[in-house]
Amino acid sequence: MTVTKRTFDVVVVGAGGAGMRAALALSEAGLKVAVLSKVFPTRSHTVAAQGGIAASLGNINEDNWHWHMYDTVKGSDYLGDQDAIEYMCRNAAEVVYELEHYGMPFDRLDNGKIYQRPFGGHMQDYGKTTVPRACAAADRTGHALLHTLYQQNVKANTNFFVEWMALDLIRDEDGDVLGVTAMEIETGEVMMLQARATLFATGGAGRIFAASTNAFINTGDGLGMAARAGIPLEDMEFFQFHPTGVHGAGVLITEGVRGEGGYLVNKDGERFMPRYAPNAKDLASRDVVSRAMATEIKEGRGCGPNADHVLLKLDHLGEDVIKHRLPGIREIALKFAHVDPAREPIPVVPTAHYMMGGIPTNHYGQVVAPYKTGPEEVVQGFYAVGECACVSVHGANRLGCNSLLDLIVFGRAAARQIIEDLQRNPHHKPLPADAAERPLARLARFDTQMEGESVSEVGAAMRKVMQTHCGVFRFPDLLAEGVKQIQAVAARAKNTVIKDNSKVFNTARVEALELDNLIEVAQATMNAAAAREESRGAHAREDFPDRDDNKWLKHSLYFSKDRRLDYKPVRLKPLTVESFPLKARVY
Ligand code: FUM
Repeated sequence: MTVTKRTFDVVVVGAGGAGMRAALALSEAGLKVAVLSKVFPTRSHTVAAQGGIAASLGNINEDNWHWHMYDTVKGSDYLGDQDAIEYMCRNAAEVVYELEHYGMPFDRLDNGKIYQRPFGGHMQDYGKTTVPRACAAADRTGHALLHTLYQQNVKANTNFFVEWMALDLIRDEDGDVLGVTAMEIETGEVMMLQARATLFATGGAGRIFAASTNAFINTGDGLGMAARAGIPLEDMEFFQFHPTGVHGAGVLITEGVRGEGGYLVNKDGERFMPRYAPNAKDLASRDVVSRAMATEIKEGRGCGPNADHVLLKLDHLGEDVIKHRLPGIREIALKFAHVDPAREPIPVVPTAHYMMGGIPTNHYGQVVAPYKTGPEEVVQGFYAVGECACVSVHGANRLGCNSLLDLIVFGRAAARQIIEDLQRNPHHKPLPADAAERPLARLARFDTQMEGESVSEVGAAMRKVMQTHCGVFRFPDLLAEGVKQIQAVAARAKNTVIKDNSKVFNTARVEALELDNLIEVAQATMNAAAAREESRGAHAREDFPDRDDNKWLKHSLYFSKDRRLDYKPVRLKPLTVESFPLKARVY
């Protein structure tokens, strides 16, 4: 197969909020930018974000970035890096106003200011009472944000490669990153995209679980490529379960419902959250609410014939609030739960939602990994932002609405860093002669392997193992068995066959390539979870129920090649303010 080469200043992989925010700044700076996306850019998963983007604008009640920073550190269960958290919270208002000026249609208050709603874990005055901090466009904030950024990118002449799948990183013998190989989904054409900077913004990997709020495209592609290229993955044991996925369907019901005054009830009609979080109640952080729901179900207070879910009640909010603030939720409830939430509660369960871990970076978006001479160095030419990156602002548990903020703050920060780096680095390094070898070998297998299991069978096995062995509560025997089972599934994934090759459409190849990436993420998650012997944030172990700061106040690093784990310290020192000291975390 001939492999063509195209050359850009920057290749951005992924067209969600982080990739598009970065691409916009890069194109506006006059750089030649390619954005690769498996789907049409405005179908990237950011489009599904509902409730809002966090920023302490104080449009309804008094607020400031110090309180936001405190909430984020506390929400992270003290595993978040406080320099990055300070950077994010300090820059929040500015990036939201930039979005507003780019034309993002936020909801408005009567005085014309941006509408804000309360969200879980976002509090006033260092944890005292909830504060409206989520800047919202009804319950379609991600949709509004993504369309705004896409339109601005079109105006700025960003080059989009639509329905192209990145296959592998190109690294030279120095370990520098020089671009990616990619496949056009429609034709199967493989191309090398050479770049002076490669930015991954490939999103999450919620599809390692059977029940997930994530789109089918969320297959951890950036993490798979990074892992295969020898980059470790950080803090992969921390996977967030969103409290309110529609029971049986997994579709997200925004926390904004509880922000507007909705609440959870058990089979006795009891509003149970005040028993678990007397102050924040239904607006405690997500790990706390998800565990409370799982406990209600486990202790026999679940609803429905199988007592396997709880109910989200919002009928008391009235038609007007539902129609204006939560129109998408009504549609989702009608379509996926067959209930009209203006009259009946929505059946919900905690559902896999967000990966706190990812490719290790600093707050400039530079990938930091064992490199030429040291264990902790910036990898030349390689950047990562958004859910695929671990910067780490979310630590062991992310607060709702901090993900859209993360995308925009660090998308912009990475672009600024790239612009500066490229001034010092004006020439492209030559690509290694074998740059396309690995991806071509991966693709060739699909034409030569005629016996084996189907991709969908192996994918289903992986999702079942993850769902059973690595859920909201984690048990020692299940984790140990999960490590063995996921390794066995990984071996099966190497021998899949695309059945009936004569009629194959490239989407079958894409699914097989995606499975390679998912398996990398699943193995990292399971191994890191089995190794961390404490409970912190979203990682709740039955055998180690407490947080253990003496032994475990550290980030994990998972190396795919030998399934090895290493650890590195948490950055407790912020950029300009005092550290928030470790405390017991109560809501
Ligand atoms: O509940 C939500 O609207 C989700 C927001 C988020 O994950 O940040």
